[in-house]
Amino acid sequence: MSNGGTELYKQARRRIPGGTQLLSKRPEMFLPEQWPAYYSRASGAEIWDMDGRRFVDMTIGGIGACVLGYADPNVDDAVREAIGRGVATSLNCPEEPALADLLCELHPWADMVRYLRCGGEAMAAGVRIARARTRKDKIVFCGYHGWHDWYLSANLAHGSQLDGHLLPGLDPAGVPRALAGTAIPFTYNDLAGLEKALAAAGDGLAAIVMEPIRAIEPAPGFLERVRDEAHRRQALLVFDEVSAGFRLNTGGAHLTLGVDPDIAVFAKAIGNGYPMAAVIGTGDAMQAAQGTFVSSTNWTERTGPAAALATLAKHRRLDVGPRLVKQDIASRPCGGRLPRMPDSPSQSVAVCRRSPASRLTIRSHCRSARYSRRACSIVVSSPATRSTRCTHTRRITWLSMAPRSPKCSTKFAKRSTRAP
Ligand SMILES: Cc1ncc(COP(=O)(O)O)c(C=O)c1O
Repeated sequence: MSNGGTELYKQARRRIPGGTQLLSKRPEMFLPEQWPAYYSRASGAEIWDMDGRRFVDMTIGGIGACVLGYADPNVDDAVREAIGRGVATSLNCPEEPALADLLCELHPWADMVRYLRCGGEAMAAGVRIARARTRKDKIVFCGYHGWHDWYLSANLAHGSQLDGHLLPGLDPAGVPRALAGTAIPFTYNDLAGLEKALAAAGDGLAAIVMEPIRAIEPAPGFLERVRDEAHRRQALLVFDEVSAGFRLNTGGAHLTLGVDPDIAVFAKAIGNGYPMAAVIGTGDAMQAAQGTFVSSTNWTERTGPAAALATLAKHRRLDVGPRLVKQDIASRPCGGRLPRMPDSPSQSVAVCRRSPASRLTIRSHCRSARYSRRACSIVVSSPATRSTRCTHTRRITWLSMAPRSPKCSTKFAKRSTRAP
């Protein structure tokens, strides 16, 4: 069977360093020479490759961006309408204040909002605002937060400091050496490690930056302790909700976990695939955005806020968060069609979920089967037919989506050494 995507990818690698714009979409990470690589169209949970083959996408769900499914009709209609009215004019779009009101309503602790378009840049803005507010430099963090200098600088001090924070082996080439020591990592749920990192930051702590939850649940009292340690040092707590947001509820995971930060950062699911990001925060923290320079032309375009308003309206109407937690695609064969997000809350849903923490390889099950914990699915690739299909899924939740449910129970799952 032909695979036009593979050929196209070979060409792309000659023109595009690394072949793709996102590490996690490199075909060789899934199935070298066989992964479809490019799509011609996508709808709901289905995706068609360049040769017209249909797949049920149980991999990374648009790397966590499409909680309502691909090409959601309500979101797409809202974007089409925005396009019809002009997207990048000399004036501002009224969707901005409407979305700010909605985000502050969803997060009653927050007073103000700024918009951006990508998760990494929104995190960089969140860190800048925290530094501007506190007039301090040091960031104590755990987890992955994007490609920007503030984050990669952690690997200047010791080359492997970011290993264990989702993406190992990140090279800080090009990051000014002067930033060495400004970002200090700790491990989630490790209070002793947190204390060590805080001691290294000393009086210079501007913020503690972390995801409220990812692959594992917070230990009792952990998030509260982190918040208190930040505040005790007149520093801010910044929650990165880029991947965790809009999965447990219509808002940040911290709402479910019961700890409010000073700043929270959203991207990905907020626009159901359309570029959109938001930094929300207390008035006290966010006023500092005026005291520094955080500004970009494309942060004013109209499709992002229009998509976000439509996404959040549908998310809230269908109460998508709890349904993502509860939905049981465990025992259901998913070789069949997975539905688009239905219009009635009584219908079942099957939207890819992700835990980007790591990829697992199932060895004893099938040599070429690969279980991606990101999508709670098992994808079986058949070298004979060069096809890739999802044979069944297991109840291995995107662990952070089901805070009280059993953790990964795949007996035969083995952590792969490959980078996600
Ligand atoms: C927690 C977290 N923060 C930040 C980012 C970076 O977001 P983006 O890829 O939109 O720049 C990611 C991306 O996976 C993420 O998972």
